[in-house]
Amino acid sequence: MKIEVLEPHGMCAGVNAAIAKALKLKDVWCLHELVHNEIVIDELKDLGFKFVERIEDVPEGKTVVFSAHGVSPAVREIAKARNLKVVDTTCPFVAKVHEAAKAFAEKGLPVVILGDPKHVEVQGIAGELGVENRCRCREGGKVGVVSQTTMNADEVAKQVAELRKTYDVETMAEVCHATKERQDAVKKFCSACLSSSVSSPFGLLVLGSQTSSNSKRLKEVAEQGGAKAFMAGSMEELKEIDFSGVERLGVTSGASTPERFLMEAVKFLRNVPEHVAMIMDGNGRWATQRGKRRSEGHKAGAKTLGDVLNWCGERGIRYLTVYAFSTENWKRPKDEVEGLMALFARMLKAKEKDFMKNRVRFRMIGRRGDLSSSLLKTIEALEGKTAHFERQFIVAISYGGRAEIVDAMNAAIRKGEPITEETFRNYLYAPDVPDPDLVIRTSGELRTSNFLLWETAYSEYYFTDVLWPDFSEAELDKALAAYAQRHRRKGGV
Ligand code: IPE
Ligand code: IPE
Ligand code: MG
Repeated sequence: MKIEVLEPHGMCAGVNAAIAKALKLKDVWCLHELVHNEIVIDELKDLGFKFVERIEDVPEGKTVVFSAHGVSPAVREIAKARNLKVVDTTCPFVAKVHEAAKAFAEKGLPVVILGDPKHVEVQGIAGELGVENRCRCREGGKVGVVSQTTMNADEVAKQVAELRKTYDVETMAEVCHATKERQDAVKKFCSACLSSSVSSPFGLLVLGSQTSSNSKRLKEVAEQGGAKAFMAGSMEELKEIDFSGVERLGVTSGASTPERFLMEAVKFLRNVPEHVAMIMDGNGRWATQRGKRRSEGHKAGAKTLGDVLNWCGERGIRYLTVYAFSTENWKRPKDEVEGLMALFARMLKAKEKDFMKNRVRFRMIGRRGDLSSSLLKTIEALEGKTAHFERQFIVAISYGGRAEIVDAMNAAIRKGEPITEETFRNYLYAPDVPDPDLVIRTSGELRTSNFLLWETAYSEYYFTDVLWPDFSEAELDKALAAYAQRHRRKGGV
């Protein structure tokens, strides 16, 4: 299944501003859900925000937050009477609709509100109107029309056209800009799928809560566009969805859905491996092909590694392990070995700032005793400084799979502990790191060269002829796409 993230998607400016405003507060009551998204609301609840459905339920004198959907003037009155401190996060677009409804009302026009009468936004707008605006509209008479900001834009246009057949309509009825843009992106995706020469069954996934009107409208627009439409408010809900038959899936998210949910969902759908290990091979050949010294190949390879680390981060890969120098590489000419060790030291010093900024934990696996004390000092200082970060970059230096197993065995013997597969793991160089899901080897060699022998028992392998310095973002994506297609049975059926 091909996954395409639609643009624009996700949080609109109004929601962003409402959340940012609320997060500055403490000891507050929110009247209604601040925004219609369960992930956001759960987080606010964890931070101590209290939610009520009636303004009367906010204790006197306390701070109340009016949600992005706005409130009626009556609610403002009660808040004042109860001596509440008001923090208003009403979206400016919603406020504009209130103003329009009020202006129509002041002109004495009957006002039609297009929207869901049960939605708090519509109730807030209705609160602007006096009884006289709720009277029956006269045939041919003038009416003012406004709409809920998160309606289906086509539906609003249709309803306005329908009203025009009977009444003299004055409108202020557009749905908000963000709602419309997201709906347009869905329409564009559907028509691109329909007009594609390789017509394949397509679907659209909306990430958003059931309480979110604009999210539900996105699903509706997708259905109208011929897509099989799905909706999920959480990772749990997403995992329950059966996408069978869908070959092309558009992903969008509602105007109150946090971006991190979309990122996690896309990672899950694309089947991104948690741990990728790489055998960075072919630096020497790359240099030789260009009439350069092998050391130039290693320098170019180091630059590629910096890029690969960033690309893996952007794709949500939590662990990247790279094979930089094997226990067997010590037998290379002295100047090449010395050049490599100096390159490692330089690279690590140069990258420290990036690791801190991008929150990357650096660690080394391999025989530390083989390294010079100055290189080891640089390594251990960096390990210490970055130890608290979640994302991990693991570099194998003077590493051998057999050496690791032998070192682990000796440690176990010293402890005198009986060994099982589980307890053995505790003696490995990085026992807490999950086994690699995917191992990539460049340069066309089809062997493991003593890399992670214990840990790769059930890893998937990807081999490419590309020499390491030429390894590109496109090549990484090819490897990840191949991985996503693999069926990892791990001995099962
Ligand atoms: C991999 O490239 C880097 C290290 C082993 C340090 P090579 O140096 O093995 O390059 P080739 O295989 O000779 O081309
Ligand atoms: C494997 O590459 C080791 C590293 C990439 C660090 P080699 O070039 O050393 O492996 P062989 O000799 O081709 O097996
Ligand atoms: Mg090699």
